[in-house]
Amino acid sequence: PTSPIADLDLPRAELSDNARIVLAKRYLRKDEKGKPVEEPEEMFWRVAYTIAQADAKYGAGEEQIRALAREFYLLMTRRLFEPNSPTLMNAGRPLGQLSACFVLPVDDALSNGQSGVYDTLRSMAMVHQSGGGTGFSFSRIRPEGDLVNSTTGVASGPISFMSLYDSSTEVVKQGGTRRGANMGILRVDHPNVEEFIDCKQDITKITNFNISVAITDAFMRAVQKGEQYDLINPRTQQVVGQKDARAIFDKIVQNAWRTGEPGVFFIDRANFYNPVPHLGSYEATNPCGEQPLLPYDVCNLGSVNIGAFVRDDVPAGEAWSDRIDWKEYRRVTRLATHFLDNVIDANQYPLPEITDLANRIRRIGLGVMGFADLLVRLGVPYNSAEGVEIGRRVMEFLDEESKRESERLAQTRGVFPEWEQSIWGPDETAARAPNGERIRPVRAMRNCNVTTVAPTGTISIFAGCSSGIEPLFAVAFMRNQAGSLMPDVNEDFTAIAHAEGWYSAELMERIAREGHIHFAEVPEHVQRAFSTAHDITPEWHVRMQAAFQEHCDSAISKTTNFPNGATVDDVRKIYELAFDLNCKGVTVYRDGSRDGQVLSTGATKT
Ligand code: CDP
Repeated sequence: PTSPIADLDLPRAELSDNARIVLAKRYLRKDEKGKPVEEPEEMFWRVAYTIAQADAKYGAGEEQIRALAREFYLLMTRRLFEPNSPTLMNAGRPLGQLSACFVLPVDDALSNGQSGVYDTLRSMAMVHQSGGGTGFSFSRIRPEGDLVNSTTGVASGPISFMSLYDSSTEVVKQGGTRRGANMGILRVDHPNVEEFIDCKQDITKITNFNISVAITDAFMRAVQKGEQYDLINPRTQQVVGQKDARAIFDKIVQNAWRTGEPGVFFIDRANFYNPVPHLGSYEATNPCGEQPLLPYDVCNLGSVNIGAFVRDDVPAGEAWSDRIDWKEYRRVTRLATHFLDNVIDANQYPLPEITDLANRIRRIGLGVMGFADLLVRLGVPYNSAEGVEIGRRVMEFLDEESKRESERLAQTRGVFPEWEQSIWGPDETAARAPNGERIRPVRAMRNCNVTTVAPTGTISIFAGCSSGIEPLFAVAFMRNQAGSLMPDVNEDFTAIAHAEGWYSAELMERIAREGHIHFAEVPEHVQRAFSTAHDITPEWHVRMQAAFQEHCDSAISKTTNFPNGATVDDVRKIYELAFDLNCKGVTVYRDGSRDGQVLSTGATKT
């Protein structure tokens, strides 16, 4: 049969063979036997047209919609921008759920008809089934051993309920394609905080959750001064004990050193920038931590492939800022913002509470991927002051251009309904810093938040770029291709090797096998520019995260990598640095700490 898009005269998607395989496996529409029944081009058109159609609500005719759909199609097929996975999987299909991130409230009741433990368990299953990930704060749950009036029994506590959610997640496959991902959060002043900090030290437990401790500014002050801090029973709001802040902080750091968990979520800092404080506070984030959300809040993400904007008509010796095609970067950012605003209208949410809030605050999360590629192409090391400055500047540009597009959309579509009292609105009661100053200037926006940096775990794979703002993981690795091991080498690296005349197949294989590029044949400047996650000290990881956070409404997905031999104290310093540099959270990973394997470089991927 001829393709439904045959008469549209659309260019073929610029995808590698590997990218087409990934798409067929995870995204393309399939028949009952699991055989794909659409081509990648048909998928991208399905998504482009469905999202463009939302313009009809604001007066666009069919011709305008088709023209916009074509622009969206080119954006995605040229790999300049990709929306989060659920949009690609579900747009224009019966499920129609397009968002990756949700937070659901958990009340201190088994069931209250809305958000008791078992009510939210049901809601969680529905979100997972639709392809979304969920975050929860268990901080409202009364502590283990506390009084239960109705039965005069004793409460089982937040961790037992988290385990229940974990087991249920195991059963429901996300969107029929991937298992659900969750974030579990507990405030540091909850009486069960120590059990929570320990609950994933057995790495076979609660595997469908990432966990983070919600850390308050008061707690951090107590850590700095070596003081005790209060534990509060959420049921009674009474102080029920005290703990030594340093001892708890040490426990968090020690456990993170051992297994990578728990992470921390600087909850007061996140709430300082909450765009709609009159509607509630942030208490949790999405599963990968980059998106603080209110209860029943949702965010659809999208990422601009920033490595694509290096001009080939400006010689390598010129200043980095002259080598970026800012005009094209602006065009893509604006169009991507329009796309994400439309996703809100095209979306079919799994719960009425979510539909309601999504339409009232219209939160979107535009970010970047391919940042390491950008640096490599500019010849600037990730672990350098210049690399960090580039990060700050490209994020500032994205954030400002996205906000301008949001303002432009507001002129015809209206500001988001909760704008007046929001952080952006003119209302006298709008959020103020402790010194009485506004936190954000008055801006008539269509969206309460516009920017977030996502991990881009899957979309960066088929877009063929480095993920999010992470450094390159390796320049080369051995790939299992139809039964034989082949070196898979970074394309920018091979291009430079050819151009500079030091390419050899033997060298590429050696690099892939050994897992590093520190060989005499590789010139010094190339070794620097291709610094990988393992060459980069933890400080540079955090400095980069902080630079991106400076101009980002929400937060940043970032893992700070440590070598296997790092000490607990090294980890502690990084947690403190992240707090001092105004990050909203930290995630660390010490090489080999979760799999007991000492070296994971030079590894084989299949
Ligand atoms: O690349 P892709 O769009 O698939 O996702 P990502 O950028 O790696 O992750 C973005 C968000 O999607 C995460 O923070 C989660 O909220 C959600 N997610 C999920 O629910 N389940 C997964 N297996 C992966 C991501």
